[in-house]
Amino acid sequence: MVVLSPCFAAAGLCVLSAVETVTATPVARQSGFSLLLSNDDGWAEANIRALYEEATTAGYEVLLSAPAENQSGTGSTSVEPTPLTEPGEFDSIPAGSPAEGHNTTDDHIWYVNAHPVDAVQYGVQNLSSTYLGGAPSLILTGPNVGSNLGIVTQFSGTVGAASEGVKLGIPAIAFSGSGGSERSYTELAAGDYSFIYAQASLRLADALVNSGASPLLPSGTALNVNYPDAGAGTDCASADDFKFVLSRVYSVLGLPVDVTTCGSSSLPTESSVVGTDGCYASVSVFNADSKLDAGKSAQQAVLDSLSGILTCLPS
Ligand SMILES: *[C@@H]1O[C@H](CO)[C@@H](O)[C@H](O)[C@H]1NC(C)=O
Ligand SMILES: *[C@@H]1O[C@H](CO)[C@@H](O)[C@H](O)[C@H]1NC(C)=O
Ligand SMILES: *[C@@H]1O[C@H](CO)[C@@H](O)[C@H](O)[C@H]1NC(C)=O
Repeated sequence: MVVLSPCFAAAGLCVLSAVETVTATPVARQSGFSLLLSNDDGWAEANIRALYEEATTAGYEVLLSAPAENQSGTGSTSVEPTPLTEPGEFDSIPAGSPAEGHNTTDDHIWYVNAHPVDAVQYGVQNLSSTYLGGAPSLILTGPNVGSNLGIVTQFSGTVGAASEGVKLGIPAIAFSGSGGSERSYTELAAGDYSFIYAQASLRLADALVNSGASPLLPSGTALNVNYPDAGAGTDCASADDFKFVLSRVYSVLGLPVDVTTCGSSSLPTESSVVGTDGCYASVSVFNADSKLDAGKSAQQAVLDSLSGILTCLPS
C-alpha cells in the first residue's frame, strides 16, 4: 500500500483531500453563456483540460464535471458515486477522498467518482446553480481520446454524457479525435494537439451560439463531432484547418433519406468524412435516446444554424 505524500504529483493536489464539496465560495466569472464540460477519459485527461482553458480564455463561464477515473466505454450506464479507495486518475486525487470534489485552487473543476452520465447529472443538478448561476447553456463532452464513429457511439461514454445532457434538457455536443493517447493534463505543451482540438470545438460551439438558434439544437438531439489526427506534421496543424461536414452516423446504402445539401440528399457517413484526405471533421445529428441518426427536419435545423461553418467534401 503506497502512502501518498500530501503534495504528490500535480500542484494543487495538496489540499484536495480536505475539500469542502459544495460549500466552497464560487469564483466570480463574467456572466453570459455557460458551458458544462464532461468526458469519459477522466477529469485529469489533457483534452478536457485544454478545452477548459480555451473556453475560459474565450470568455465562456465554464464548469467541468467529469469522472475521477478513465471510464471509456461506459456508454449511458450509471453508478452511485463512491469515495475513492485508490488514488484518482494520474494520481490527481488522493485515495480516501470524497465521492465528489473539486480542484483546490479552481472550484470550477470537479471530479465525480462514477460514470460520465453521473458526472453530467451532478454537474447539472448539484453544481450548476452554484457555479454557473443556473443550468448550463450548452454541454460539451470530450474531446474523446480516439474516434467515436458509427456503432461505437452506442458504447462511448463521451456520447453517453452528451446524450444525458439532452435528456436533462440541455443541448449537447460530443467531440472525439483520432489523434493522441490518454495522458495527464500536466503534460500539455504549447501547440499541443489537445489545444487544436479544443479550439476547433470552440469554433463549432461559437458558430452554434452565434447562430441565435433557439433551441440551440433540435429537441431530443445532440451532435457527434469527430476529428482526424491533429498537430504538427498532420493535415490539421491548426484549428482553422478543420472543415466541418454534415454527416450521418450510420450508412443507409445511399438512400435519399437525408436533408439535401452539397447536391445530394444522402449525407456521407461520419467515417467517410474523417477518412477523407485533408482536414475534414464530421458533424452528425443523432437522437439522444436511441443514439441513431436524427431525421431530416432535425438535420435541416442544424444545417441552417451551422451554415456559416459547414462545407462539402471535395467531389
Ligand atoms: C488545479 O488547478 C490548478 C490551476 O488552476 C493546476 O495548477 C493544478 O494542477 C490543478 N490540480 C488538479 C489536481 O486538477
Ligand atoms: C481507458 O479505458 C479503456 C477501456 O477500458 C482502455 O481501452 C484504455 O486503454 C484506458 N486508458 C488508459 C490510459 O488507461
Ligand atoms: C444532487 O441533486 C439531486 C437532485 O436535486 C439530489 O437528489 C441529490 O441528493 C444531490 N446529490 C448530492 C450528492 O448532493
